[in-house]
Amino acid sequence: MDPLPLKDKVAIVTGSASGIGKGIALRFADEGAHVSCFDLNEEGAKNTAQEIKGKNREALYFKVDVTNSQEVAEAVKKTFEHFGHIDILVNSAGIIRAHFITDVPEEIWDAIINVNLKGTFLCIREVAKYMIQQKSGKIISISSKSGKTGGLWLGAYCASKFGIIGLTQSVSRDLAPYKINVNAICPGNVFSTPMWDLLDKEYSRKLGVPPEQVRKLYVEKVPLGRECTVEDVANVAVFLASSYSDYMTGQAINVTGGQEVH
Ligand SMILES: NC(=O)c1ccc[n+]([C@@H]2O[C@H](COP(=O)([O-])OP(=O)(O)OC[C@H]3O[C@@H](n4cnc5c(N)ncnc54)[C@H](O)[C@@H]3O)[C@@H](O)[C@H]2O)c1
Repeated sequence: MDPLPLKDKVAIVTGSASGIGKGIALRFADEGAHVSCFDLNEEGAKNTAQEIKGKNREALYFKVDVTNSQEVAEAVKKTFEHFGHIDILVNSAGIIRAHFITDVPEEIWDAIINVNLKGTFLCIREVAKYMIQQKSGKIISISSKSGKTGGLWLGAYCASKFGIIGLTQSVSRDLAPYKINVNAICPGNVFSTPMWDLLDKEYSRKLGVPPEQVRKLYVEKVPLGRECTVEDVANVAVFLASSYSDYMTGQAINVTGGQEVH
């Protein structure tokens, strides 16, 4: 096996302007991959692509709204035209809001389902067309521990993340004959991401504690006694993107410090 498990592989990473997606994109480059960065935040995607070029790997970036099938199709096509193959797709674009069920605005429900679930579907649908021709590929979607167990005030988010696991299991069956592996990762609480700047405030309201106490309460639920890091998630993403996981498909892997065990 090559010492760099992703040497010269081409990866598309959505949500790669920040947080987990950015961490995975940079780590993939460290492991030898070229990366096409998709994000609504064009400036952020550009910065990630520049950092990847600084690692002597090729990088493209595209302003893509993952809920827009035309934008997704265009950026996937341009990625394929540039590199001639697409080996890995990581779906990390996502949003979250927390509301008691009777307070969930319909437009928030729609936005969460659209970005997290429909966006994942649209990217898989488009990239799979190229991977089927190649008869190879690795598809990884970022679900959550909220994709395994429902959480307080998280009806829309949990529905979207459970949906990603159902989508993963189903698509793994569709694509298995083409040697395309389709898996999901279910991270715990990754405090270092911008998502948690919002969650501190929203969970403070839901738990009735000051924002600065929220993270402590969440860490207390974790058997391994610490938060999840972007690196913890990227380690599993590299494994699922590499040939080490060739006999795994349809799985949703917990990276939760033991908090979620199913
Ligand atoms: N942070 C956590 O604790 C945590 C835990 C479990 C799962 N997750 C999941 O991990 C993924 C990444 O989250 P993160 O924590 O890195 O948050 P983040 O906010 O740092 O990253 C999300 C990225 O998605 C992009 N994005 C949002 N809507 C988009 C759209 N319509 N089209 C394209 N890009 C869009 C944002 O611009 C941002 O760059 C999400 O799916 C999230 O649900 C996060």
